[in-house]
Amino acid sequence: MFQRFRRTRLNKHLRSLVRETTVSVDDFIYPLFIRSGESIKTEVSSMPGVFQMSIDEILKECDELKKLGIYSIILFGIPDVKDSIGSDALCENGIIASSIRAIKDRHPDMFVVTDLCFCEYTDHGHCGIIDEVNETVNNDATLEISGQQAVIHAKAGADMIAPSGMMDGIIETLRSSLDGAGYENLPIMSYSTKFASGYYGPFRDVAESTPSFGDRASYQMDPANRREAINESVSDELQGADILMVKPALAYLDIVRDVKDNTSLPLAVYNVSGEYAMLKFAGMNDLIDYERVVMETMIAFKRAGADIIISYHAKEVAKMLQKKN
Ligand code: PBG
Ligand code: ZN
Repeated sequence: MFQRFRRTRLNKHLRSLVRETTVSVDDFIYPLFIRSGESIKTEVSSMPGVFQMSIDEILKECDELKKLGIYSIILFGIPDVKDSIGSDALCENGIIASSIRAIKDRHPDMFVVTDLCFCEYTDHGHCGIIDEVNETVNNDATLEISGQQAVIHAKAGADMIAPSGMMDGIIETLRSSLDGAGYENLPIMSYSTKFASGYYGPFRDVAESTPSFGDRASYQMDPANRREAINESVSDELQGADILMVKPALAYLDIVRDVKDNTSLPLAVYNVSGEYAMLKFAGMNDLIDYERVVMETMIAFKRAGADIIISYHAKEVAKMLQKKN
């Protein structure tokens, strides 16, 4: 008599009918790391399955992604030369601008998102221009060059800009720079709630962006703060962001739900490098059923309220979904 829940679980088709959350290949953005040169495809030791690639290899990778049904990518550039202000990021022939042009030329159907920050381009590894006195990033000086960087991405053909540096006022600044240059229709996905996290460790290996002194705690958020986490995202919505984000994802699913409940904008999660590495190495050591745990994790992001998942697992998930169908 009191078996109502059990009854809906007995049959696999009925389980599908009543399932509340689904994961689709359309939910994903796949990160790519690009450096200059030719025929370069170097696996990152801390992230098996993730590579630094030269542009020619990236173009081949896009073919493979499309076969899997993945059309959205986010680009990270690793320049040959780094300096104090990250000049490569401000140059029309820099690694990112060149990559965007090459990708859009060969794959106009790909949706190209660019990570907008300076930590991969500066010799000190911080996310902007340094204020020598406070030994951290000078917020307003960084805003000025961020506007230039956004226009460079836009001119090269980017489909969406994703500022990740957590500078105060960045969305307003980028919106007005883009509008001023005639890119009123270019969307901005803000890394709106980004925590100062140990989970970025492997990314800093692959992007070669570990700060040479200090840390990012003056501009990234304290993991202990929930109200501030909501406010950071709401503030970016008010400044004109089109999509919000919580990053990292897995240890912050409560925040994902909080932000979702406080905005009507689409919400992304960034399933970061350390989260990927944990599952990858556990799987490689047969400690977990890797595919099952990956899928369970993706479902958890969606259930918490994410509309978009940025993940190094995207290709694996696409393959799993293909197998299922
Ligand atoms: C750059 C940036 C970082 C990530 C995305 N953009 C690193 C950082 O803030 O140190 C992290 C991504 C990951 O760990 O996978 N600001
Ligand atoms: Zn940065």
